[in-house]
This record gives sequence, structure tokens and C-alpha cells, in this order.
Amino acid sequence: MTADFPLHRTTRPVADDERAAALADPGFGKHFTDHMAAATWTPEDGWHDRRVGPVVPYSLHPSAAVLHYAQEIFEGLKAYRHADGSVWLFRPERNAARFAASARRLTLPVLPEEDFLASVEGLVRADEAWVPAAGGEQSLYLRPYMFASEAFLGVRPAHRVEYGVIASPAGAYFGSGVVGVTLWISAEFTRAAAGGTGAAKCGGNYAAGLAAQLEAREHGCDQVLYLDGAEHRWVEESGTMNVALVTSAGELVTPQLGTILDGVTRASVLDLAVEHGLTPVQRPISVVELAEGCASGSITEVFAVGTAAVITPITGFRGPDLSITVGGGAPGATTLALRAHLLDIQHGRVEDTRGWLRRVV
Ligand code: COI
Repeated sequence: MTADFPLHRTTRPVADDERAAALADPGFGKHFTDHMAAATWTPEDGWHDRRVGPVVPYSLHPSAAVLHYAQEIFEGLKAYRHADGSVWLFRPERNAARFAASARRLTLPVLPEEDFLASVEGLVRADEAWVPAAGGEQSLYLRPYMFASEAFLGVRPAHRVEYGVIASPAGAYFGSGVVGVTLWISAEFTRAAAGGTGAAKCGGNYAAGLAAQLEAREHGCDQVLYLDGAEHRWVEESGTMNVALVTSAGELVTPQLGTILDGVTRASVLDLAVEHGLTPVQRPISVVELAEGCASGSITEVFAVGTAAVITPITGFRGPDLSITVGGGAPGATTLALRAHLLDIQHGRVEDTRGWLRRVV
């Protein structure tokens, strides 16, 4: 049965000229639309009070569990305007499934897939005017999240939980865009360990990553590349993205799942690889292989993948005793071709032969 998120339209929308200015240069995560979707969970009533309404601040007791024990998860997906004016989501069922998996890991209540889809679609319909025009690379970024709002200081799963979705028009995540980014290979910080929360999309993973991100910036890099926690030898993922590389043997290689995020863009690129003459491979990649392969030319391209970052070329890595240049320091042709292919599918410029798009408007 389709869940209903009834719309209570705001009486105070952002003025048309202000919205137009935001859409003209959205950046990432700076502007927010007029509405949000929401629902509340309690053990007695389950999920209830589903609604799409004006964006309103939360009122939380200072003991709210999320403020102390970080019982929180989130997602990221985008809505795209096509040339005929229609609006589409990209593989939202995968986000719903990952949200459910993250909820299980953080002992939060699972939100049924139909609620996830109805809330996201309801918000996109309410804020359709905020979906950027067709023709460019812009989209409406959607941020579903869930957190423990119960006022209680004991450590146990919360008995009151809030779910929400907000939306923000999005341009490029990195200012440097397709020019390429450099990643800092941290010798100090790791992201995840076996049995931990590495595969979950929870706020705590990102809070713990901020120190590594600052370390990367201090060394002139755009983001961090994490190695595994046990041996500090295997490539895991970047601060906000999965990573993949292209070999001279015609493979597209990305680290196997386990302690990394099961990225929607990662999965999509593995699928598209075949059309670009590449064999998709998921296996461990050591930092030694990365350095030696880039030096010898057996690794020709490296790139990052994520909903926000789309496909971003990686042109180099630095570390305490390490400096790696990828493919002469310029974005690779395969990276750019995969990027164009994915964006063309998302923006409706080529046929969606895989059924990845879901129409909303
Ligand atoms: C995304 O790519 O959607 C992310 O969630 C990464 C980041 C902006 C936190």
C-alpha cells in the first residue's frame, strides 16, 4: 500500500527572485527549499504523523539521545529535470534499502521502502520549482535522515525517533569539479574496522572523519583517502566518496564491500564499465599497488564516485612519505566518458535501458 505524506503548503515560500538567485549558482548544500517531509516513530504507534510541510526547526530536550549517543543515519540522492520538464529520481530504491540497512546497524526503526519513496516524491512534487532547469549538470539534492529524539540519558535504543527529508539545489560538490582532486593518505586516521559502522551511512562516521579532512586540507589536498584499520595497507574509501581505478589491462577496479559504503554511484559505474570495454572487478587494492601502478602506468586513471561528487577525477595522492601522480596529473578519458554517460542517463539525454530512473513529475 502506498504511504501518504499529505502536503501542508507553506504560506511563506522563498520569494521568486531569491529562489532564482539560488538556482543560478547553487553550489552544494547552501540553499534549502520551502518544504520538508517528516514522520515520527514510537514503539506504541510505529511510524505516524507522516507529512510534507514547511521547513521548521526542531524543538529538542537537551537530553535528546541523538545529542549524546549519535543515534542518527542519513541518505543522499538527487532529482533531475529532463528537457521535456519532467523530473526523475535515480535509483531511489537503492537509497531506501541502504537507509534500512543503516537503521538496523544503528538500532533505529526501519522505515518501509514505500514510506521512503513517498516522502521523497512528495517533497519533490511540493518543491518542484526548486529543481534546476534541464541542460546543465545541476539537480535537486535530497537528504533523508533519521535521529533519536527521545529525552532520556540511559544508553539504549530510543523510544522516539524523527524521520525527515530536506532538499537543496546542487551544483558541483568540489569547486575544482572535473579538473580533478588530490587525496591525502592519512597515516594517523582510519574510518572503519570490521564489525564497526563503516558500511552504515551514519553521522558519526562523518564526524570522526572531520579531523582527517582537516589534515588533508593542511597538506593542500581536497579530501582524505582512508586505508583499512587493521593493517593500514588497503585502500578503503575517501571522506565522502568511494574510489575506483582503471588499469592498462582494461579493468575497472574498486575495493570490495565490507567496511566501506555500498555507494549507489559505485554500483552504477561497475555496471556501466562493460559498455566502456572494461571488466568490473571488486577486490582489495593495496597502497603499494596504487603507488607502483600509477608510477609504471599499469594504473592509468583513478576517480571518486558518490551522489554529491558524481564522478570526480583524482589526479594525485599525497601522504607523509608519499607523492603519487595519476595519469600525468590530468583527468583520464575513461573517467570523463563514464562521467558523461552517467550524467546523460540521469539527465535523460540517453535512453535509460536499465530502468534506473523513476518519474516523479
Ligand atoms: C552523498 O554523496 O550523497 C553524500 O552523502 C556525501 C556527502 C555530501 C556527505
